[in-house]
Amino acid sequence: MQNIAAITGGAGGIGEACAVRLIEMGWTVVLLDRDAAAAATVAARLGCLSYAIDVGSRDSIEAAADFVEREVGPCSGLIAAAAIFENPHAPEDQDPEAWRAILQTNIDGTYWTATAFGRRMVERKRGSIVTLGSMVGMNSSPLFAYGTSKAAIASFSAGLAVAWGRSGVRVNCVSPGPTLTPALAASYARGERDPVARLRFTALGRQVLPEEVANVIAFLMSDQASAVTGVELPVDGGIMAAQLWSLYGGVPGAT
Ligand SMILES: NC(=O)c1ccc[n+]([C@@H]2O[C@H](COP(=O)([O-])OP(=O)(O)OC[C@H]3O[C@@H](n4cnc5c(N)ncnc54)[C@H](O)[C@@H]3O)[C@@H](O)[C@H]2O)c1
Repeated sequence: MQNIAAITGGAGGIGEACAVRLIEMGWTVVLLDRDAAAAATVAARLGCLSYAIDVGSRDSIEAAADFVEREVGPCSGLIAAAAIFENPHAPEDQDPEAWRAILQTNIDGTYWTATAFGRRMVERKRGSIVTLGSMVGMNSSPLFAYGTSKAAIASFSAGLAVAWGRSGVRVNCVSPGPTLTPALAASYARGERDPVARLRFTALGRQVLPEEVANVIAFLMSDQASAVTGVELPVDGGIMAAQLWSLYGGVPGAT
């Protein structure tokens, strides 16, 4: 049976790495992104289709889901990776427009994408969905809107997993830590984040690469994970595990 997957945010970063990995595994992939030119460039390189989508619009999401079904076939996989970010700030400095934009793209966008594609999977009793949370949705951080959006995604992903489990559709949430995408590398270069300071707080002591996140997502998408649904899985180089070590002198070096 043909495996067809749609990937929102597929024009770059983790979404693009997922496309590479799924194609290696034999999936037929469609890249969905608001950056149509970048998506088309990546699609041409990978030999797959792309389609312009704005996940902030339900009409746009429905049009993309129709496109995939019509032009490619029954979609049994969805990776909902499209999102926008923010920089650390004091809570009272929160820009209300940025708050709305982040919640609309990340929460509304992921939810309506999951339900548009998931509804069709439920009808066919077959599908796997992976949403993208974040380590900052699992704890407090100075990313107030972004962290809130990612906590919401993890919450409703588990709910969808239960609602659709007996209809053959699995839903899981992968929550990366800082992952060295071109966008994050550019943020480091602009001095918005300090890459060296962050490594002190990880168990592995190194950056996570997009391919490493993609490997975990591809596993959850595959039948290898046929009994896994409703989980939030951190792929963070051990940041969550190392949190309390700062109270005891920090993470030890290699022995
Ligand atoms: N890179 C990290 O460190 C990191 C850490 C934790 C979680 N994540 C999550 O992983 C996912 C992928 O992140 P990334 O680092 O690859 O980001 P990225 O910025 O490299 O890629 C995001 C893609 O989403 C697209 N996009 C943004 N808004 C859109 C919209 N309204 N409609 C359609 N497409 C839209 C962008 O054009 C871009 O191609 C996101 O959900 C992000 O929150 C990333």
